[in-house]
Amino acid sequence: VVTSKVCRGALIVMEGCDRSGKTTQAKLLKKTLDDAGKPTDFMCFPDRSTQIGGIINNYLKCGTELEDHAIHLLFSANRWELLPKIKMTLAKGTNIVIDRYAFSGVVFSAAKEGMSLEWCKKSDTGLPKPDLVLYLDVSEKDVQKRGQFGAERYEKEEFQKRVRANYELLKDDTWRIIDASLSIDKLQEVIKEEALKVINKTKDEKIPELWV
Ligand code: TMP
Repeated sequence: VVTSKVCRGALIVMEGCDRSGKTTQAKLLKKTLDDAGKPTDFMCFPDRSTQIGGIINNYLKCGTELEDHAIHLLFSANRWELLPKIKMTLAKGTNIVIDRYAFSGVVFSAAKEGMSLEWCKKSDTGLPKPDLVLYLDVSEKDVQKRGQFGAERYEKEEFQKRVRANYELLKDDTWRIIDASLSIDKLQEVIKEEALKVINKTKDEKIPELWV
C-alpha cells in the first residue's frame, strides 16, 4: 500500500512600517501562489473580526483608552485565539501569508515609554515561528512621499521612527529585507521567488516555535 504523506504548508509573514505596501503585497502573494499551484490562505493581524479584535479596533480608532501592557496582551491574545486555525491550515498542506504578526506586536508596543522589547516578546513566545519574514523596507523620506498617514493611533512620524528602529533588533536569518521602492510588479516577483524557495525547503520540517 502506498500512502502519500501530506507535506505541511509554509508560514510566511509580511512585516514593515505603516504605508510600506505590505497589505497589497501579501494579498497579491496569496493569489500568485494559488496560481502557481501552491494553495495559500491570507490572514492578517490584528484580526478585527473576533471579539478581542473588536476591542483592538476600537483602541486603534482612538475610541477607547487602554493601559499599554493590557492592549499589548490583547494583540497577543488575538494571535493565540487564531492558533488552532493556523495549525490546521499548515497541517493540511496549505501555506499561509500573514499581514503582520508577533513582530508588529513587539515593535509597536516597545516603541512606547516604559515598555521593553524583552517584556513584549514574552506573550508571543511559543507561537509558530514563521518560515519566512518578508520585511518591506521603505526609507523615512519615501514614507513621507507616499502621502499622509491615516488617523489611526500609531500613524505618526516620530512613533514610526521608533518602530523602524525596533524592527532592526528582531531580524534573524529567516528575514528577507525587500526594497519597497520597487514597482508593485517587480516587488511581487522578488517576493514570489523567496516564497517558493521556502515552501520547498520547509515542507518536511517541523514547525519551530517563536523565541524559545
Ligand atoms: P493594520 O493597519 O495593519 O491593520 O495594523 C493596525 C495597527 O496596529 C498598526 O499601526 C500596527 C499595530 N499593531 C500593534 O500595535 N500590535 C500588533 O500586534 C499588531 C499586529 C499591530
